[in-house]
Amino acid sequence: MKVAVIGAAGGIGQALALLLKTQLPPKTVLSLYDVAPVTPGVAKDLSHIPTDVVVEGFAGDDPTPALQGADIVMISAGVARKPGMDRADLFNVNAGIVKSLAEVIAKVCPKACVGIITNPVNTTVAIAAEVLKKAGVYDPRKLFGVTTLDVIRSETFVSELKGKPLGSFTVPVIGGHSGVTILPLLSQIEGVAFSDEEIAQLTHRIQNAGTEVVEAKAGGGSATLSMGQAGCRFTLSLLRALQGERNVVECAYVEGKSTHNRFFSQPLLLGREGVEQVLDYGVVSAFEQQAIETMQPILAKDIVTGEEFVAEAVI
Ligand SMILES: NC(=O)c1ccc[n+]([C@@H]2O[C@H](COP(=O)([O-])OP(=O)(O)OC[C@H]3O[C@@H](n4cnc5c(N)ncnc54)[C@H](O)[C@@H]3O)[C@@H](O)[C@H]2O)c1
Repeated sequence: MKVAVIGAAGGIGQALALLLKTQLPPKTVLSLYDVAPVTPGVAKDLSHIPTDVVVEGFAGDDPTPALQGADIVMISAGVARKPGMDRADLFNVNAGIVKSLAEVIAKVCPKACVGIITNPVNTTVAIAAEVLKKAGVYDPRKLFGVTTLDVIRSETFVSELKGKPLGSFTVPVIGGHSGVTILPLLSQIEGVAFSDEEIAQLTHRIQNAGTEVVEAKAGGGSATLSMGQAGCRFTLSLLRALQGERNVVECAYVEGKSTHNRFFSQPLLLGREGVEQVLDYGVVSAFEQQAIETMQPILAKDIVTGEEFVAEAVI
């Protein structure tokens, strides 16, 4: 198997590459690409860690060598938030980066599973989908907006608040990946009871946890280390499923059979071809139902922005 990390010299890319070098199964090829000239050096640095993961690194204008033969491509290329910015402010730069990378992926590794970390995820996933569709290679089972950071934040905060042991539960997070489109289904955590006030506060904290990090880093960027861990968890789950392990479930933002919007994050059963089944997210509380309804127009607008970006770029 070959895993490519695109944007590998960045804050997320380096953290993700380090975790993958130490946790991917033996003989996996880990291929790094970034426009930054330091990238072969990042690969060299990682190659001195004694694991049987083979690391290679490429810089320059062309991601092709890193993408050739890739089974999984994780994209964190782009710019990150500074204080006062929301994810939509990143659109102008990151939309073009994701579009060009998707064009190369369509030619070089059209059958790869692609995980998009680059924000605004609600929109960049729609951009990648439209590019792949135009190239005639779009398979919705293989394109993911990576929302795992919202899941691991939810697990951490719930455990802190309620003392529930980490690893004994997960929290489905549905919707999208910005503000009120992030919806943790706290009502579905077995054996934990929340007051209405706790639900409102915790939901708000999870939705704004990225901003907590952006402000604490005071101009030095957004979440990188926790995102590296989230990206690693998602990559390892996907890889296990591609290799035939059964019952692998993760939440991600995909084009599935959502009754809400073209793209929606919800629990997915992963399999040999990517998404095997989009799982029903089950019974939700009145608070969660209201939140699902509130987020729909925002999500719809984010998706249309991506679709229009690609449509207009062609004209
Ligand atoms: N999905 C999530 O949950 C989540 C969480 C945190 C951050 N993010 C997003 O991830 C992205 C990266 O964040 P970061 O903190 O790693 O930023 P960063 O600035 O540290 O790294 C980005 C890297 O992308 C590289 N790059 C730029 N254009 C490129 C191109 N065309 N091809 C290849 N590489 C290119 C840069 O050289 C840089 O090394 C941002 O858009 C950020 O908003 C997403």
